[in-house]
Amino acid sequence: MDLISATFFTLTALLVSFCLHFLLHIIKYTVGSGSGGGVASLPPGKTGWPVIGESLEFLSTGWKGHPEKFVFDRMAKYSSQVFRTHLLGEKAAVFCGANGNKFLFSNENKLVQSWWPVSVNKVFPSSTQTSSKEEAIRMRKMLPNFLKPEALRRYIGTMDRIAQRHFTDQWENKKEIIVFDLAKSYTFWLACRVFLSVEDPKHVARFADPFNALASGLIGIPVDLPWTPFNRAIKASKYIRKELVLIIRRRKIELAEGEALPSQDILSHMLVTGDEDGKFMDEMEIADKILGLLVGGHDTASSTCTLIVKYLAELPEIYVGVYNEQMEIANGKTPGELLNWDDIQKMKYSWNVACEVLRLSPPLQGAFREALADFVYNGFSIPKGWKIYWSASSTHRNPEIFPEPEKLDPSRFEGTGPAPYTFVPFGGGPRMCPGKEYARLEILVFMHHLVKRFRCEKIIPDEKIVVNPMPIPAKGLPVRLYPHKA
Ligand code: HEM
Repeated sequence: MDLISATFFTLTALLVSFCLHFLLHIIKYTVGSGSGGGVASLPPGKTGWPVIGESLEFLSTGWKGHPEKFVFDRMAKYSSQVFRTHLLGEKAAVFCGANGNKFLFSNENKLVQSWWPVSVNKVFPSSTQTSSKEEAIRMRKMLPNFLKPEALRRYIGTMDRIAQRHFTDQWENKKEIIVFDLAKSYTFWLACRVFLSVEDPKHVARFADPFNALASGLIGIPVDLPWTPFNRAIKASKYIRKELVLIIRRRKIELAEGEALPSQDILSHMLVTGDEDGKFMDEMEIADKILGLLVGGHDTASSTCTLIVKYLAELPEIYVGVYNEQMEIANGKTPGELLNWDDIQKMKYSWNVACEVLRLSPPLQGAFREALADFVYNGFSIPKGWKIYWSASSTHRNPEIFPEPEKLDPSRFEGTGPAPYTFVPFGGGPRMCPGKEYARLEILVFMHHLVKRFRCEKIIPDEKIVVNPMPIPAKGLPVRLYPHKA
């Protein structure tokens, strides 16, 4: 065989084998159906534009204030259980309803694992990427230890003290304020104190700027050039990690010399607590965990606190319910006595109101998973490597689950509350938000101080809510404050 024939033969063989492979792939994913016993087809849906897929529709429904529209339009058009799309450069399926949530939350590290968009991983590299999968799972398991109710009880007095100072310095003696700015300042100050014992407002401010840079870069376009927000976010995350490692080293010495208490904050708790095998986290692991907590809690709880103020201003009868509950607790205290665990347990109505706000406006609209293997869900094939999104609004805004879904009705949370896997602002399963209990405490302490002092009136009655990526009133919710008469 001469060279030309040999080349022709090889190319033809390659082409035929490529076509066969392609054909088999198509057959595997599009022919037959799960219910018919053949190979399952991909979920119904469309993949949108090349490269960007349906990302624009996905994001823009949020910018317009209706993130649920992306999901509900496709649930109506394709399937109420699962549909196919293409998001953030990835082939994806959206699992809907309580069944979808249950499936994903129960199959973590079996069929699926947590996945974050590339931009998040780059700005926020953590031991999850650098250590083995088993190590990452072990580390993730340790986190809730530091944030479970028993561990957090001891910080309620501290939270109350910080909240008092915050309201005295930033709310009192003001006629008008921008709620989101102040809510952010409250949650960030609290986190600095409870995680790191950093309490001095000047020291807190030194952290606040890089954190704002980090948070805005995380949600931006991931282009790493010197002037981009993404680049500033990467730099900010490096700066914060360095600062955290310095604080950790100093704290180790202080603990050894008896100048710091093992119970004074979450950092000390992490340094003195080992896992079930007696293994301790190293400095970098602790810095990662604290950074993760500070980022995870950065705008989430402040978004909820802001929207609570919005609803309390709009719904006087709900305000009165919260006010009565909180004043009963306040009136039962001796002067200077701080809030404690029992007081928090009495704030049932207030928490039901907060849950309704979390149902109507969850800070995170959902989260991604990645398929670890090919599997069939609801008769449809999900290929290995596909990204899967669960969406809170697919249940939160579903009238069959929550009748009159637009209405804020705290009674939905009385008794046994919503059915399992329908109310999921914090996710579920092993990947459920580790800051859930911490968020509950800071939100309730915030509500206590707010209603004890003021009634609020919205300055822009029809202010739009923008979801980018957290729901926030477009102008930050300017309100007029009406202090209660002494
Ligand atoms: C109202 C407040 C909050 C809401 C609604 C919320 C919600 C969520 C949700 C939905 C997830 C994703 C779960 C998933 O992947 O399925 C998450 C993850 C996370 N949250 Fe929160 N969160 C809140 C506050 C906080 C706070 C205050 C902290 C820190 C103290 C925190 C720390 C984290 C961390 C570290 C993760 C990542 C966990 C992981 O990947 O394993 N969150 N949160």
